[in-house]
Amino acid sequence: MNILVTGGAGYIGSHTCVALIQKGHTVIVADNLCNSKIETIDKIKQITNKEVTFYQIDVTDAVAVDTIFSDNSIDGIIHFAGLKAIGESVQKPLEYYYINLVSTMVLSKACLKYGVKKIVFSSSATVYGNNTVPFVENMKLMPCTNPYGETKAMIERILTDIGKVNSDWSVALLRYFNPVGAHECGLIGEEPNGIPNNLMPYITKVAKGELNKLRIFGKDYPTVDGTGVRDYIHVMDLAEGHVAALNNLTEGVHIYNLGTGQGTSVLQLVNAFEEANDIEVPYEIVERRPGDIAVCYAGTSKAKTELGWTAKRDIVDMCRDAWRFEKGYED
Ligand code: NAD
Ligand code: UFG
Repeated sequence: MNILVTGGAGYIGSHTCVALIQKGHTVIVADNLCNSKIETIDKIKQITNKEVTFYQIDVTDAVAVDTIFSDNSIDGIIHFAGLKAIGESVQKPLEYYYINLVSTMVLSKACLKYGVKKIVFSSSATVYGNNTVPFVENMKLMPCTNPYGETKAMIERILTDIGKVNSDWSVALLRYFNPVGAHECGLIGEEPNGIPNNLMPYITKVAKGELNKLRIFGKDYPTVDGTGVRDYIHVMDLAEGHVAALNNLTEGVHIYNLGTGQGTSVLQLVNAFEEANDIEVPYEIVERRPGDIAVCYAGTSKAKTELGWTAKRDIVDMCRDAWRFEKGYED
């Protein structure tokens, strides 16, 4: 299939392009590079030894998006492009609502106009809020504590409503848990701007000596060791989950968790990283981070049964691959 990947130069998008190409699909990337680099496109080509068609456009620009659909015979889209920093979304709500929602509507209109019926969307486990674990797809969602999370819940509703009246559409709303790690070859990985907000990129910067020590946000949660528990998933497993969704989607709107079903605490992840890479990660315990929940992990049976997909890589793989990428990476 010819797949339009919006945000394909970004962290999850680039790994998904590799997974798609390796399964025989052709990718067309649309990205404005606001949070990524053009070099990533070259690296995707280098890893796969295949061409990638690249458009540097803003996906809220309906005219530019129309050009991509008219130039290419598109069979399906994966919509990754958007803004994703939770803290920033509180400061810049309009930007978040505008870019995340308008891009989805522009792309949906183009899909209707050009008869594209397969749509995969990047949602997030954040829509579950503080539900009881494991989070399963049919749970009632809770209001998010930030505009970023609200955009994900709203886009899920928008695509669900459009899907209802276009019964030949196949829509996958993929709720990611905590993607970490990098492609095994070390060429592509997570490249956050400035000081990372997320745990794994913070750990790798501390290990590299670029940051002094990790601050662990809270040790008084009701968890195995008092630190927050998350469902870390290797980014290549996540990428392969998208390929499985595209290949196995049936008509209708479907929600799938993409997680491992395993909870890992912050301290467990730090210890695993130190052991896997034989390197020390100094840390201190500080106050809880506002808005954080204690425990988050996925129920995984729906993706397994309906898409035939499960995550294969473990925490050691995630730690090794994240570190391999960081070591080879120059800002
Ligand atoms: P990323 O920032 O690395 O990738 C997003 C890409 O979209 C970037 O290359 C950026 O340049 C591009 N982009 C942003 N706005 C654009 C616009 N208006 N037009 C064109 N391109 C634009 O982020 P990521 O971690 O790869 O996340 C991809 C998607 O997955 C996002 O929708 C994010 O909300 C979602 N998600 C990510 C996580 C996570 O932990 N990384 C978790 C859940 C969901
Ligand atoms: N943490 C620290 N120190 C840090 C960073 C994080 O102790 O410097 C802790 C957090 O308190 C939390 C855990 O590490 O317990 C994971 O935090 P992350 O920031 O890496 O990830 P979150 O679970 O907060 O959120 C991520 C993405 C969201 C997405 C969510 C889905 O950032 O976009 O996973 O589960 F919605």
